[in-house]
Amino acid sequence: MKEQSSTSLKRTHSSASLTEASAGQEAIVSGWVETARDLGGIIFIDLRDHKGTIQVVADPSKNPEAHKIFEKVKTEYVISCKGPVSIRPEGSENTSIKSGAVEIYPTEVEILNTCKVLPFQIDLAEEVNEDLRLRYRYLELRNEKKRANIINRHKIVHAMRNYLHNEYFLDIETPILSKSTPEGARDYLVPSRVHPNNFYALPQSPQLYKQLLMMSGFDKYYQVARCFRDEDLRSDRQPEFTQIDLEMSFVSQEEIMSATEGLIKVAFETMDIEVETPFERITHADAMSRFGSDKPDLRFDMELVDLSEVMAGSEFKAFASVAQDGGIVNAINYKGGAKLSRKDIDDLRDLAMSSEYGAKGLAWITYKPTEDGYEIASPIAKFFKPEEIEKITELCNAGAGDVLLFVADKAKLVQHVLGKLRLQIAKNEDMLDTRHIKLVWVVDFPMFEWDDKSKRFKANHHPFTMPVEEDLDKLETDPGSVRTNAYDIIFNGVELGGGSIRVHKMDVQKRIFKALGINEELAQERFGFLLEALELGAPPHGGIALGLDRFVMLLTGSDTIRDVIAFPKNQSAFCPLSSAPSATDQEQLDELHLKLVDPD
Ligand code: AMO
Ligand code: AMP
Repeated sequence: MKEQSSTSLKRTHSSASLTEASAGQEAIVSGWVETARDLGGIIFIDLRDHKGTIQVVADPSKNPEAHKIFEKVKTEYVISCKGPVSIRPEGSENTSIKSGAVEIYPTEVEILNTCKVLPFQIDLAEEVNEDLRLRYRYLELRNEKKRANIINRHKIVHAMRNYLHNEYFLDIETPILSKSTPEGARDYLVPSRVHPNNFYALPQSPQLYKQLLMMSGFDKYYQVARCFRDEDLRSDRQPEFTQIDLEMSFVSQEEIMSATEGLIKVAFETMDIEVETPFERITHADAMSRFGSDKPDLRFDMELVDLSEVMAGSEFKAFASVAQDGGIVNAINYKGGAKLSRKDIDDLRDLAMSSEYGAKGLAWITYKPTEDGYEIASPIAKFFKPEEIEKITELCNAGAGDVLLFVADKAKLVQHVLGKLRLQIAKNEDMLDTRHIKLVWVVDFPMFEWDDKSKRFKANHHPFTMPVEEDLDKLETDPGSVRTNAYDIIFNGVELGGGSIRVHKMDVQKRIFKALGINEELAQERFGFLLEALELGAPPHGGIALGLDRFVMLLTGSDTIRDVIAFPKNQSAFCPLSSAPSATDQEQLDELHLKLVDPD
């Protein structure tokens, strides 16, 4: 019997490989003591390894030497056990684990390492606050369920790499110490020691480099690319994240979408899920008018219904005036909503009028079920003629048990409010089954979006997306109506990825910068190297990037992307494990020519 650090009991089997068929064999298993139970003098240990657990048993009358060591062993000790594999006595099998038919009565035990008192119990990690879990992320990952996310991530990436390799995409790395990229978030900057007062920017995406690779003649590129964005964090955003990034030359939008569908399909296959291709497509304009969102969740209906025409002619001034002044009046039909109390409806109204939603009001009509149909209850019904009510009922396909919820305002706000309300109601009603998968392409994005704050147009995707051919003429006259060859892929209401056909000619690029109010000097300073390449024989090209962390989160049914990243940052971009970011010493600051100022 040994208690030493140099391993003499070299592992021969994983826990999961031991089944009934192994009975009688001699095996050496190694791992962590998950639990040690003393039942009437016999000690049962669940020994956990990378594949699962196996029961090892010490009985003073059968294997007294092992029993002596087991008496000293505590949770998360690392041990090796050697002994014959035996079938468990009838009735004591454990069907929930792979090795559940067998157990080992070791004849030799080696303690490879001890373990102090744990900061939390590994099987109860879920109940511990996240910062503590992240501080000891390596302990949390000993939990099989948590580790499974990382293993599944590997399988998904591996399958995608295989697919892309077979489709002749080349895996090419692009710089991390780089120049600012145009994705719209804040940059992470790295000061240069060699070039005083100059900074590298970490890439928000490999966008410009992958375009340059097309200009280099590579034809099809991919990268499992790390990206960095300093933005407000959410459950599906991290300061550093990973994209599956693609670019292709001489391609159409359709070809890129079809290659992406193949890629998504193989990722699903790793999780034994079949998805049908091609995926549904919806224009950006339709997504906004029907679902109030450019990332519509199509797992349920509850579409926005336009009632502007009926309202414009009605006596209800609040709605009539909005409809007459270029605004819109929309409703959603909350099926079964008539069960709500007055307070429930008031809560929905308060939500709609909260600063996050921004509605000026939320009107409603309830269709209370009665014996012979329904009875209408509503603070606004009195303003409408019977035929107007009839029209509203018909357009909204309303009936007994329903509630219609109305918002009147500028189109953008109405869609924003009802789009969010639609989702919130679906959540409240448990309509969002994660096993139900809806993938949809949103296409024909507007090239520009008006920014009220800066009073100018901003690029909806980035300034290198190619406008739709027939809208090119409107770049100068009506930029707001120019559509672009950009497409987003949406998975159950989450933006999984996005891409576009790029501008490959300088004249078009210049016109876009002009529409964006980016002057030539600024464009040269920021993207000069790309612009120069446009005039040196740039081929037509386009591509897409999928957010890998989001994809794995959705495929594994996880709630946040932090669950599928081995060492994530917390919600305030801090790493509780390594304590990054942290202060640095004066010597390093001096080398980098940096002087700190008090943030206050
Ligand atoms: P985009 O900015 O839309 O496109 O990013 C593509 C996808 O990356 C994921 N993503 C993120 N995931 C986690 N944390 C974040 N902070 C984060 N930000 C983005 C999303 C998103 O859909 N260069 C273009 C692509 C192209 O045009 O080819 C780009 O980066 O899933
Ligand atoms: P009022 O006539 O202002 O008392 O409004 C009557 C009802 O219409 C109330 O339930 C308000 O919440 C609702 N309402 C008022 N303005 C709007 C609006 N712009 N959109 C939706 N509902 C509104």
